[in-house]
Amino acid sequence: MLAVSEQETRLGLASELADIEMRQRAIVQWNSSIRRLLANFDEARDTLEQIAEEDEKNLRMLETVMTNFGMRVEPKEFTKGFTELVSQRIGAANAPFVEKLGAYALVKQNQAMCGYLVHKVAQVCKPDVKAALGPFEGVQTSMEKQVAQISSLMEKTAVKMISGEEPATGVTGRIRDAAATVAGAVINTFGKSGDEMDILNILRMDHAKAKTLFQEIEQSNTAVEKNDLFYQLRVDLLSHSEAEEQTVYRHFQQFDEMKDRFDQAWSEHEEIRTALDIINNLDASSRAFEDRVKDLRAIVQDHVDKEEDEIFKLIRSKTDDDLRIRMSQDFISRKSQIQQHISPHIITSPMSSPGTSPAL
Ligand SMILES: [Fe+2]
Ligand SMILES: [Fe+2]
Repeated sequence: MLAVSEQETRLGLASELADIEMRQRAIVQWNSSIRRLLANFDEARDTLEQIAEEDEKNLRMLETVMTNFGMRVEPKEFTKGFTELVSQRIGAANAPFVEKLGAYALVKQNQAMCGYLVHKVAQVCKPDVKAALGPFEGVQTSMEKQVAQISSLMEKTAVKMISGEEPATGVTGRIRDAAATVAGAVINTFGKSGDEMDILNILRMDHAKAKTLFQEIEQSNTAVEKNDLFYQLRVDLLSHSEAEEQTVYRHFQQFDEMKDRFDQAWSEHEEIRTALDIINNLDASSRAFEDRVKDLRAIVQDHVDKEEDEIFKLIRSKTDDDLRIRMSQDFISRKSQIQQHISPHIITSPMSSPGTSPAL
């Protein structure tokens, strides 16, 4: 078996996710051109509108998954070049109709294939990665469904375009339509692609991931792995707490009756950050590291319990669904900015060397 370190696996996944996100951002931009391209085909209108809406939701969900995953890298140069090439094809004034639609369909297929790859890699990863990538299932199912929908659209429109005739409703077309219908039903039943996450769900997901990482560090047998896992935990806790302060705590501190409670939670964050700094300077194979991680676990668990119990109640009392969804988007983008600030250190750091965890 190929020996791949924990950090390398995570970097590999981060790289796939970065590629998927970059392509998804491009797809969202191309969607209006594709809708204009097929404007004369009534049968395409509803499907394309639904695809465009779903693509934007999938992009937001990807952003959530990536911040929850907690490790960011640049998209690959190849992916950047390829996406740029497709942009040019779709934007070219003189490109043939079928070629433009084909280029678009190609990227959609690429998304579905890489989405499947991420899903399969996550299956053999540690539980914190599986937890972070949970909402990706819905995105991936949606991407697969869209491939079937676009193939079917291409068939309907391009046949009409070239021959002036309706396509014969052959077996292939019926299978594609059926595949899209089944995938749609799967999303409606199990998936999350259409759901907007509210801030309480987002915070809860982060809390669950931190809990899992603590377990993984304690169960880990090697200092190298402990170090990699602690590095991830540190990035997660630092970005979570800072984003939480700036987007959630700050908002509720303006209410007199809540100020004290949020001030107290803020000072608990300070305590967590201090403990993280101390552990960061310890050798992952030492007894002191083990003891301090155990202490930190207790502090974090206590803070999380109080947050989910008391603070979530306060948040609920002052917000409606819309505000909680908007807050989650603010939280994700803030957390993502903090991670992007951290990420260059991750990329350039020597991987999996104990004691070389880069400074944040
Ligand atoms: Fe929290
Ligand atoms: Fe907190």
